[in-house]
Amino acid sequence: MLSKKHPGFATRAIHVGQEADPLTGAIAVPIYATSTYLQEELGKNKGYEYARVSNPTRTRLEENLAALEGGIASRVFASGMAAIHALCTLFKSGDHVVSGHNLYGGVPRLFNQILVNYGLEFAYVDTSDVTAVEKAMRKNTRMVYVETPTNPLMALSDIRAISEVTRRKKVDLVVDNTFMSPYFQKPLALGADMVVHSTTKFLNGHSDGLGGVIVCSKPQQAEQFAFIQKAAGAILSPFECWLVLRGVKTLAVRMEQHDKNGRAVADFLSKHKKVREVFYPGLPSHPQYRLAQQQMTGFGAMITFETGSLSNAKKMLKKVRVCSLGESLGGVETLISHPATMTHLALGEKGRKAIGITDGMVRISVGIEDVDDILADLDEALTAI
Ligand SMILES: Cc1ncc(COP(=O)(O)O)c(C=O)c1O
Repeated sequence: MLSKKHPGFATRAIHVGQEADPLTGAIAVPIYATSTYLQEELGKNKGYEYARVSNPTRTRLEENLAALEGGIASRVFASGMAAIHALCTLFKSGDHVVSGHNLYGGVPRLFNQILVNYGLEFAYVDTSDVTAVEKAMRKNTRMVYVETPTNPLMALSDIRAISEVTRRKKVDLVVDNTFMSPYFQKPLALGADMVVHSTTKFLNGHSDGLGGVIVCSKPQQAEQFAFIQKAAGAILSPFECWLVLRGVKTLAVRMEQHDKNGRAVADFLSKHKKVREVFYPGLPSHPQYRLAQQQMTGFGAMITFETGSLSNAKKMLKKVRVCSLGESLGGVETLISHPATMTHLALGEKGRKAIGITDGMVRISVGIEDVDDILADLDEALTAI
């Protein structure tokens, strides 16, 4: 148990839910690899009955992530998409969701190709514009769903301003905080009702496990999502929980280095003659630079830049050596990707064009390697254009 009442972020990351094992004193949380638990007699157990319902390793991770986001509880799922899907299982046919128009491509795919078949209705708006969010809301709106910064355009939404509207209208505001992690942005403190993450990214931090979480601000939400874990079953396995518990111990130091390297790469790209535009909230040229400074305590490691054409993007992506061409983000290694043919392929050409994702765009998740090596790699690759 922590003795200090309000420990700092790094202390919480290392200690909350990460207490030594009561049975053996093991400093690292054990992986409880079990599907069921011994019942002492009918109706008498140690609080655990069946592993879909609960597992001690999972309980520890849920405590930890709630503490990092400032929530009252959290519930972890098999992937970020499983968490977002779980979120929507609260709704009924005829319910309406106002969603950001620029999200990770898998989210609109879930909404448009699966959830519409269950009678849910979706409106897509530019959530950078609070008036547009309010205008899109209807009597049957149940949730406003926002990603900030957006993937891949790095546009911000003003969480506090949107929460004033959603509070007035008694609608839940849910923020996907994957890009910033709770180290740099705390949506619940800014007025959001719930936070989701793909823990696959910065929370895990090592590109070795999928996962997702819903962080709750009210006991009723925690109860509902515990029920969904039990009833629908897309829970996170104990091993994957353990990977995140291990990953978050270094979240603070990793995020500091990601941010430092991210700023250096964004600055370098913004001065490179082969790069036409850079999308990074830490650049004074970003249209929401001031909001970024107010709402976030760092700018992070996600950068998108314009190479001018599909063939330029292809040429440079073929040349990189330190940066790894691959989907995903948030690992210690620099990952580089092409939104139009990878993360946002499912949007289709028309969908991408409508929100401004071009064929020449390249997205980079800046890792924590020596920054000079990342810069030299990018310079060499860009010279190939
Ligand atoms: C911002 C964001 N949210 C959610 C997801 C979905 O997470 P997962 O891949 O863990 O299902 C992703 C995946 O890339 C993402 O980038």
